[in-house]
Amino acid sequence: MQKELENLRKEVMRDLKSISEAAHLEEVRIKYFGRKGELAQLMKKLKEVAEAEKPKLGALLNEVKQELESTFIDASQKLKGQDNPALKFDVALPDIKPELGHMHPVLQVQRELEDLFRSMGFMVLDGPELESEYYNFEALNIPKWHPARDTQDTFYVKGGEVDNKFLLRTHTSPMQVRALEKYGAPLRAVVPGRVFRYEATDASHENTFWQMEGLVVDKDISISHLIAVMKELLQGIFKREVEVRLRPGYFPFVEPGFELDIRCFICEGKGCSVCKQRGWVELLPCGLVHPHVLEAGGLDSKVYSGFAFGLGLSRLVMMKYKIDDIRLLLGGDLKFLQQF
Ligand code: DAH
Repeated sequence: MQKELENLRKEVMRDLKSISEAAHLEEVRIKYFGRKGELAQLMKKLKEVAEAEKPKLGALLNEVKQELESTFIDASQKLKGQDNPALKFDVALPDIKPELGHMHPVLQVQRELEDLFRSMGFMVLDGPELESEYYNFEALNIPKWHPARDTQDTFYVKGGEVDNKFLLRTHTSPMQVRALEKYGAPLRAVVPGRVFRYEATDASHENTFWQMEGLVVDKDISISHLIAVMKELLQGIFKREVEVRLRPGYFPFVEPGFELDIRCFICEGKGCSVCKQRGWVELLPCGLVHPHVLEAGGLDSKVYSGFAFGLGLSRLVMMKYKIDDIRLLLGGDLKFLQQF
């Protein structure tokens, strides 16, 4: 059997050397390496040799088999031109396109809104995410003892002044006073951005989400101006009739304050986890700017008045695209994000 192996090795080598076409290669493969090929025959024969010989012959057979197989692979690659770098590059192959990213759905809607507000003469402002207690609370008429602080617990940063620590802003409203300080009145501004809350997450709550603050200050601003802008805003976003309701709402920095709710788009008002079975979703808290806020911004509240709103941008995106879990927005799941 050893002799047979030697012969086989020689034969295969000879055959492989003389091959010039892929068709011949296939013949050689079948003849030697096929299911009924010569190597398979020898494997069968191995069963018949004396027990004492088996280990030695078996090892040899394996060695030859491996050697022949690798020689065969080399020969076939050579024949296909794979060892020739010039042939490796196939100009006819379609290009591998680099994958292009795109804007996050929240940013897409944010940009749309920015355009809409610019068309109404608003500035688009950016504000700090790490904010001081003063702008986040005090300047907005939320003193230290005020219960509204409890509903907006957040992450505080070590250091900073006593009673004016740095914190991750709980809303975009701090920009109301910052903008008034910087630009004075008359003023029309929107402030999109990320906000943070220390809270348990569920389908409609996240520790990080987006809002868009709006502020208009001028002489003789009234609720009619507020309602007109809110209507324009909702039309622009949903591009369809949106059922809304306005009810009184309390926010220390507006007086009077309102909650503008829209009919839940996810369940069409039947009740679901996003609207907490209410059929309505709080989308746009708003109101007339409290005199204390105007004064914190350096204005005379007897001369100026204004309205403000705090649009829940994350919620709005969820309504627009029927996303039933807010956690998807920051989940980083490409399967989700690639749909937008
Ligand atoms: N900042 C408030 C919040 O995050 C929302 C808000 C309510 C903003 C009324 C406003 C407003 O500008 O007028 O809960």
